[in-house]
Amino acid sequence: MSDPWWREAVFYHIYPLSFVDTDGDGYGDIQGVKDKLDYLVWLGIDAIWLSPVYESPMIDWGYDVTDHTGIDPLFGDLDEFDELLEAIHERGLKLLMDLIINHTSNKHPWFLESRSSRDNPKRDWYVWKPSKEPGEPPNNWVSVFSGPAWSWDEHTGQWYRHTYLPEQPDLNWRNPDVVEAMMGVMRFWLDRGVDGFRVDAAHQIMKDPQNRDNPPTPPGYVDPYKEMGEYGKWIHVFDRGQDDVHGIHRQMRKLADEYERDILTIGEIHEFDPTHWIAYYGSDDELNMPFNYQLMVAEWTAAGVRKAVEAVEGVLPEWGWTNWTMGNHDEIRVASRLGDRGARQAAVLLATLRGTPFLYYGDEIGMLNGPSHGHDPWGDNVAFLSRDGCRTPMQWHPGNGGVGFTSGEPWIPIGPDRDHRNVEIQKGDPLSFLAQYRSLLALRRERRSLRLGDIRFVDTEEEEMLVFVRSSDGESTAVGVNFSNRPVQMRRSGDVVFALGDYESHPESILLGPHSAVITDTSEGDE
Ligand code: GLC
Repeated sequence: MSDPWWREAVFYHIYPLSFVDTDGDGYGDIQGVKDKLDYLVWLGIDAIWLSPVYESPMIDWGYDVTDHTGIDPLFGDLDEFDELLEAIHERGLKLLMDLIINHTSNKHPWFLESRSSRDNPKRDWYVWKPSKEPGEPPNNWVSVFSGPAWSWDEHTGQWYRHTYLPEQPDLNWRNPDVVEAMMGVMRFWLDRGVDGFRVDAAHQIMKDPQNRDNPPTPPGYVDPYKEMGEYGKWIHVFDRGQDDVHGIHRQMRKLADEYERDILTIGEIHEFDPTHWIAYYGSDDELNMPFNYQLMVAEWTAAGVRKAVEAVEGVLPEWGWTNWTMGNHDEIRVASRLGDRGARQAAVLLATLRGTPFLYYGDEIGMLNGPSHGHDPWGDNVAFLSRDGCRTPMQWHPGNGGVGFTSGEPWIPIGPDRDHRNVEIQKGDPLSFLAQYRSLLALRRERRSLRLGDIRFVDTEEEEMLVFVRSSDGESTAVGVNFSNRPVQMRRSGDVVFALGDYESHPESILLGPHSAVITDTSEGDE
């Protein structure tokens, strides 16, 4: 059996509201994505994950859906979507849709019916419970965005559950009609020709049927992910990832596998313990991959990165395949988290680690986080968690205008870093983020060992030096990254095929400048 296409692909995540606006309303649109496909081909991208373009009141910017099979007029319409898909396929690219399964908008017709009366046939499509004590929510669960995960419905005198905003009521996945309806949604897009789904909040759909309280985190506990505000104060044993979630993922996979082309299903699963995370692969019969966020939380040192990669590699079964990512529409931009040096090292790692890389739009030009502008509802609850900063418009050109994003007023102000971190300026600079990303992706495309090879770490005497070798079918590639701010020596083997920063090449060794990295072709040697 040949490897499915998505193992070798490089993915680019587009947040469509902020990519390109072609009608001047300040919001990006489908036509804008279509206009930039040749840029993505030029960059070396193989596939796109498109954040939601479905009909939505945009309270959570498209993650609150009112029609899973309709396109919001802000983005265009279904005809334009079909044209986009055709243009994507014409270029040999693929498209992943974002599938929002845990909840709908509170304006969704299903929810309007469900809340209309206790005996409405759709009542049980959502999760309704009585008070625990008069006036008290059914349990202590909190929403990811802070505040109780339950809202009181005056009209029918019960609480409904919402993992996110009150405007995003949770669907009841234990109701077979809900399962059937969402499978219908998958079919709708697969029949139209999409190549897979990024499944939103994939493990949150199943919660404890007995509704037990979550235990509080012990004193001194630090959330492995990030300081999550109120959500980080509880251990989420009962409000996500219950055993029967696997059965649902199996059904989704089965449906995807009915299609002859390889469909990719990749789940947003924030599970940081690799031994728990691995369970979401099932026996290669659940979603094809859970997202792997380990590099985003790794300590940014040679040892920290190696530990993160080995932890994942250590639990993957022989048939298992992972992915790596450094950012998305929910996270602080990588160049703001790690600084430019770290972000450039991250680019080297994304292009060379074993696993499918997912790049977030704008990271290829090193875009920085902008300030919060009060758009993200998460920021209303917990100011420092606002995601506005990582959603600023893509910077195509320099200048004071719409930087190639819009001719109107952008929905989120353009970042202050527009003059240097933009495509036009960086295209002309061989040392820019963009030029380096492009060379790295070209190298990955050229070298099978980087795409599909196995990975082996090499112990070095220099503790701040990370060295690993990728090999496949007689080809091998070594990667060395200096995490320190002093020059460090690496044993030399083979010719340098890519360099980040300064290095000196000697017959037996390579002296890597501070924070530099090299990639060498070691096919002939023994590194
Ligand atoms: C996921 C999305 C996030 C959204 C949330 C609710 O975590 O990535 O952007 O707010 O789900 O749908």
